[in-house]
Amino acid sequence: MQIQENISLKRYNTFGIDVNAKQFAIFSQLADLEELLHGLTPSTGQALPLLILGGGSNVLFTGNFNRLVLKNNLLGIELVREDNQYYYVKAGAGENWHGLVMHCINQGYAGLENLSLIPGCAGASPMQNIGAYGVEIKDVFECLEAYHIYEKTTVQFNLGDCRFGYRESVFKSTYKGQFVILNVTFKLRKQPVYHTAYGAIEQELEKMGLQTLDIKAISQAVINIRSSKLPNPADIGNAGSFFKNPQIPAEQYSLLKQQYPNIPGYPAEDGFVKVAAGWLIEQCGWKGYRHGDAGVHAKQALVLVNYGKATGTELFGLSTKIINSVEATFGITLEREVNVY
Ligand code: EPU
Repeated sequence: MQIQENISLKRYNTFGIDVNAKQFAIFSQLADLEELLHGLTPSTGQALPLLILGGGSNVLFTGNFNRLVLKNNLLGIELVREDNQYYYVKAGAGENWHGLVMHCINQGYAGLENLSLIPGCAGASPMQNIGAYGVEIKDVFECLEAYHIYEKTTVQFNLGDCRFGYRESVFKSTYKGQFVILNVTFKLRKQPVYHTAYGAIEQELEKMGLQTLDIKAISQAVINIRSSKLPNPADIGNAGSFFKNPQIPAEQYSLLKQQYPNIPGYPAEDGFVKVAAGWLIEQCGWKGYRHGDAGVHAKQALVLVNYGKATGTELFGLSTKIINSVEATFGITLEREVNVY
């Protein structure tokens, strides 16, 4: 296994932040990973053990890395099993997410179509239970295999083990920094169940003038909507939604609704209401804001952007200003969705 020294991570994160890794390696098979992690213990791991990167689409780097950064390049998409209702499709963690979605749609495996065009890799999808347009990974998840970086064992996680929540899983909390996800198996329907009620999907399908509804059409509608609102990281650096949509108690929401009748809110679990953070940020005047190369996307205020040479610290500073202003105006504390290093 070749370990490279002092490598720029600019091309390995969709924000396009130019920081260096003291050591960097790409692993394409489990044996390579085992070799790279050989001898690593919690004590040698120190404060920042090591960083495992997938597509780098949900990270903000605020400084150089003194240690080892590993890029997951475990590939392969395989139909491992099927029964009357489902296809079970196993994807290597390093597979590009959208490529996997397209593959499944072309094969007629239903369930991932609403999750089209999300940047990143298959292995990162359960990490934060990615979701869009009314579907989350937890809805199509069967199991995953992950390698424990200190115990050197491969462990299987089933649905209940992952404790999925809104943009949350056990890999972001209890087991943070302990496992490398190797592969994920999805449970995809033979008979599709369409989710078109969310957001502008129905409207977009109508605009497309379709005769028959199928998973390809839904995927195309999602692609059209996403492309119209979200910047392509190849053109403008970004990590999708920078903040989570906050969940507030229903009573707090009704009070806010009296003052701001247009505030968008969606029922969430346990009597909470999920409020659109993009709306809150826009109301505070941040939409389209730019200082230097750090900014807030002009078409979606939940997305912070790097126009070129912004540093992670500048973007982090901007996010802090946004949090403070939303808090001062609405009494709601936004939480960052991206992982800050
Ligand atoms: N809105 C505004 N101004 C804005 C942005 C949004 O008023 O600048 C309003 C919209 O008009 C709408 C509401 O906020 O009423 C929700 O907006 P949108 O449908 O664009 O979705 P979102 O809640 O901002 C979430 C996810 C996205 C996902 C979309 C679609 C989170 C943190 N974000 O965004 O996920 O694609 O829904 O399902 O939950 C991501 O996580 O990186 C991501 C892009």
